Amino acid sequence: MTVRLLVTGAGGQLASDLVEVCDADEVTALSHAELDVSDEASVHAAVRELRPHVVCNTAAWTDVDGCEADPDRAHAVNALGPWWLARVCRDVGATLVHLSTDYVFDGSAPLDGTGSPRPWEETDPVAPRSVYGRSKVAGEQLVRDTLPDHVIVRTAWLAGAHGSNFVATMLRIGRERGTATVVDDQVGSPTFTADLAPALRHLAVAGRAGTYHVVNAGRASWYDLAAAAFELAGLEVDLTPQPSSELDRPAPRPAWSVLGTRHARLAGVPPLPDWRDGLTRLLGELGELGDLGESATSAPS
Ligand SMILES: NC(=O)c1ccc[n+]([C@@H]2O[C@H](COP(=O)([O-])OP(=O)(O)OC[C@H]3O[C@@H](n4cnc5c(N)ncnc54)[C@H](OP(=O)(O)O)[C@@H]3O)[C@@H](O)[C@H]2O)c1
Repeated sequence: MTVRLLVTGAGGQLASDLVEVCDADEVTALSHAELDVSDEASVHAAVRELRPHVVCNTAAWTDVDGCEADPDRAHAVNALGPWWLARVCRDVGATLVHLSTDYVFDGSAPLDGTGSPRPWEETDPVAPRSVYGRSKVAGEQLVRDTLPDHVIVRTAWLAGAHGSNFVATMLRIGRERGTATVVDDQVGSPTFTADLAPALRHLAVAGRAGTYHVVNAGRASWYDLAAAAFELAGLEVDLTPQPSSELDRPAPRPAWSVLGTRHARLAGVPPLPDWRDGLTRLLGELGELGDLGESATSAPS
């Protein structure tokens, strides 16, 4: 089936990969300059004109520290924007796929029956600790309350070939300085937009409304992720672990952001590969693989 798809936030790293995987669909991708999702009238006009089957809202104000200083702007983009989209999707009979985040949780690790940390499940209670997290929770809730035909996808620690992200920053710092200091007490689910995008396409047409966690398999600290990137890129970097308490940032970061993907698995979404595999492919796409990374991609599986 050819899907008529409207993607907001085009120009962002996730939107770029989503547009690529939807090449058989009829896609309209609108950048921030072309559609400001916080402008209710513009949102209504765009959706009414395009009459999409599916709207995928990747637009967000993702500057977590910036949000802390301007809660009204955070709410306008991350909560009211999806609300305006949900209202007009309801009017025209479209599905809304809306992106959310691990920041909806408080970052403490929930425990399994044996007392070990377990991934956050879709049904765990949200308890955001930052303005960004609160704005994303509000966006989720407004979408749920407005539009039965919604798919809310929470993901985490995104990296892609078309945007600024932790991996790109680390490669630049490693190359420029030969030294880096990275926190090792925040653990999460590194996720690669090239792997997330096909899962979004799958959920967009699955006809199963709900809230889904979609992340690459495995878990890592930021330190682990930086170390793996340097190793795959063949960069000799003096890497030092650092506790989060030494960082003085406006917004608190969740210490535990590992997401469990039960809902997506049960909805038939093919599991995303291990994060190290996603990282290797990302570095390949960026032309950043060193000899070790090249042999990892050419090794028989
Ligand atoms: N990045 C992560 O690690 C991460 C983790 C978990 C969840 N998420 C969620 O995943 C989604 C995609 O993230 P991403 O990493 O692709 O973000 P991104 O690269 O920052 O892209 C977001 C895009 O939204 C645009 N935007 C900002 N305000 C807008 C507005 N008022 N109207 C329309 N567009 C607007 C931005 O344009 P400008 O640059 O021009 O402002 C940017 O192009 C977001 O919902 C985010 O909350 C991201």
